[in-house]
Amino acid sequence: MYDFKIAAADKAALYADLLAALDGLTAGEPDAIANMANAAALLWETLPGINWAGFYRNVGGELVLGPFQGRPACIRIPFGRGVCGAAAESLAVQRVEDVHAFPGHIACDAASQSELVVPIVRNGELLAVLDLDAPEKARFDAEDEAGCVAICRLLAERL
Ligand code: SME
Repeated sequence: MYDFKIAAADKAALYADLLAALDGLTAGEPDAIANMANAAALLWETLPGINWAGFYRNVGGELVLGPFQGRPACIRIPFGRGVCGAAAESLAVQRVEDVHAFPGHIACDAASQSELVVPIVRNGELLAVLDLDAPEKARFDAEDEAGCVAICRLLAERL
């Protein structure tokens, strides 16, 4: 049984604890789907105020839904489409304060108001993107971005 008690006083400590927990959960496990599934569950359980946490995998140049927590989501996203597709195409983090103002945003859950998408890249190749959605505008700040970038750097070695 895994029972992580993450109740950090501030965001930096929260993400440090999250990263340590994820490191422990994925160490020595070579299966990418298992590691993404546990990462989605851990993020979902730990981060307050989110309504979706999960992954889209790069399958032959198209994003395909991977392990996640939250409502059922759209399955395939072409590179360049929506927030996830923009992250996949540019290999740059997309931190969107208001998804309704983002051109081509794909609404999987009408409740989503803001979104953070972080590419997971190994040796210059996109493996997947981490996608977090929140039902509140501007839910994600620079600390969330830095924390998720660190998580994705770890995952790049575990997928
Ligand atoms: N909103 C995303 C689609 C994925 S869902 O949020 C789970 C986008 O615009 O890429």
